[in-house]
Amino acid sequence: MCGIVGYVGPRKIVPVILEGLRRLEYRGYDSAGIVYLQDGKVMKHRAAGKLSQLEAIIDDAIVAPSHIGLGHTRWATHGAPTKENAHPHSDCSGNLVVVHNGIIENYHSLRVELQAKGHRFSSETDTEVLAHLIEEYLVVPSPSETDAGSAAPVLTDALVSAVRRALERVEGSYALGVLWAGQPDTLIAVRNHSPLVLGVEDGHGSFLASDIPALLPFTNQVIFLEDLELAILTADTRRFYSLESGAEISKEVKVIEWNAAMAEKGGYRHFMLKEIFEQPQSIINTVSGRIDLETGAVELPEMHLGADDLQKIDRIFLVACGTSWHSALVAKYWIEHWAGIPVEVDIASEFRYRRLLINERVLTVAISQSGETADTLAGIRLAKKLGSKIVTICNVVGSTMTREADGTVYTHAGPEIGVASTKAFTAQLAALFLFTLYLGEQRKTISPEKRRELGQALIGIAQVIETELPRLQEEIRELVDRYYDCRDFLFVGRGLNFPIALEGALKLKEISYIHAEGYAAGELKHGPIALIDKDMPVLALVPQDSVYQKSISNVEEIKARSGRLILLGTQGDTHLRTITDDVISLPHVHEEMNPILYTIPAQLLAYEIAIRRGCDVDQPRNLAKSVTVE
Ligand code: AGP
Repeated sequence: MCGIVGYVGPRKIVPVILEGLRRLEYRGYDSAGIVYLQDGKVMKHRAAGKLSQLEAIIDDAIVAPSHIGLGHTRWATHGAPTKENAHPHSDCSGNLVVVHNGIIENYHSLRVELQAKGHRFSSETDTEVLAHLIEEYLVVPSPSETDAGSAAPVLTDALVSAVRRALERVEGSYALGVLWAGQPDTLIAVRNHSPLVLGVEDGHGSFLASDIPALLPFTNQVIFLEDLELAILTADTRRFYSLESGAEISKEVKVIEWNAAMAEKGGYRHFMLKEIFEQPQSIINTVSGRIDLETGAVELPEMHLGADDLQKIDRIFLVACGTSWHSALVAKYWIEHWAGIPVEVDIASEFRYRRLLINERVLTVAISQSGETADTLAGIRLAKKLGSKIVTICNVVGSTMTREADGTVYTHAGPEIGVASTKAFTAQLAALFLFTLYLGEQRKTISPEKRRELGQALIGIAQVIETELPRLQEEIRELVDRYYDCRDFLFVGRGLNFPIALEGALKLKEISYIHAEGYAAGELKHGPIALIDKDMPVLALVPQDSVYQKSISNVEEIKARSGRLILLGTQGDTHLRTITDDVISLPHVHEEMNPILYTIPAQLLAYEIAIRRGCDVDQPRNLAKSVTVE
């Protein structure tokens, strides 16, 4: 929901922080700030609005002779997106500063207590409470206690002790960076239920960040903090402690296979467009090496669940949010059809609040691009408590979900920066189809011949998308002038196409702000058809598949009521142009692959309409890429 970044090391601090914030802006962008130490003084710059507003006031600070600091880009939870509420936040002295991602649930009672003790607040945020609470517990050692020989450890101990005592009082989630003028060569990093990753640059330079892209311009050597772990960072040292016991712990440095260019626009106008066009490659990267097209054998070694485990499973729960929930809806059709296992699909924020009939015979699969979505995380923790094995389908190596699950099937889509998920979604579908084939192989419900056929279809869809993307973009662009100023939109589909109708509607609404709804085509006559008139555009997915005739009947019902139709259908289906002029034709592919293929024009339509409306496609209003608060 917010992006935090910090650095201490040989580099000049301001360019490092700004570069890190640029790569985290997709996490939240309603205000931003930076703080650094210069000649022992705390220098702070903050601005409401996007990061560019902060950059506009930095001026000659860009070359400030400082090598330690913190930065923050905000998605407001408590307090309006103003300069006063922008992070970093300070204690009364102004010498202790924090940046925070998460929610301090008991901030109000703590604020009242601290104000009663004389602390003066300058913002409406929950975060500022942390700065004053650490200040309250910070016992600055006397000069005699910090003689020249032992000053650093004593001061650091005092700071760490104050941070630990403060966080003992806190209920809620935090990824926290702390800087104190009293210990000018040290940053403190702490995490609990909000993502926080550390970076190491060839031993000389320590970073903290909410997400990996902020580190990539400088290093791909990362250390993932777990919940309730604290790190003490200096330019050349990194020490780690359990926040609860205070015991020192060791942490492993991991090398991330991503590079900075992968998190750049690469000549595209927007990240979203780049990521739409990356889909053939991300599908290939997700599938390659995991299915033998000769034998039909599927290899998912990181899942850590074999035939014995899977034979015991008599139900599968798929749990996710947003676009990832749509991929779960598609997977339900696939798994039940091909693996013969009953599947329940839950929106994570609902899953958590109903009586769950889950036990060790249930497999819970969490689907998440970020691996940090708070509701989905809470869901798998609940399912685990009830005895279920957990598998996650995830795009971020080392993310919280992948470290808490029993097994993971990674989508190798690379960093997805656009807030509206595109390549991660189709990579999730590819991974879920592989997962289906794996289940069928392990439970002997799909013959090797059929697995070969389906595996070929999956590999082949990437090539089809690669070939069709340029034409689809051109044809969609021709539609836009007739639809960009609509106030409402319906998307309808049947069977495997119904979740894609939902996804198309979500794409359109979240980046163009047009009210759009997805419906099961057969559901129209049970109410929504009342909305149909000459002003109501309806995009219908009508590939020539096993439900084609029924879908065409639905389309005729819409036409009979003067609805404005856009049809996504199969090349050569001449009937479609007898219904409407606005037809986007797609190649005939294996029916199971239609959900992946038909997503592409829906993504392009949302993108082109949003552009035509002058919307900020990569950073839509009110949204954030990873919803790490409940
Ligand atoms: C998708 O376009 C949205 N940005 C959003 O619905 C997203 O899919 C949802 O927040 C889930 O995120 P996750 O996949 O990282 O868990």
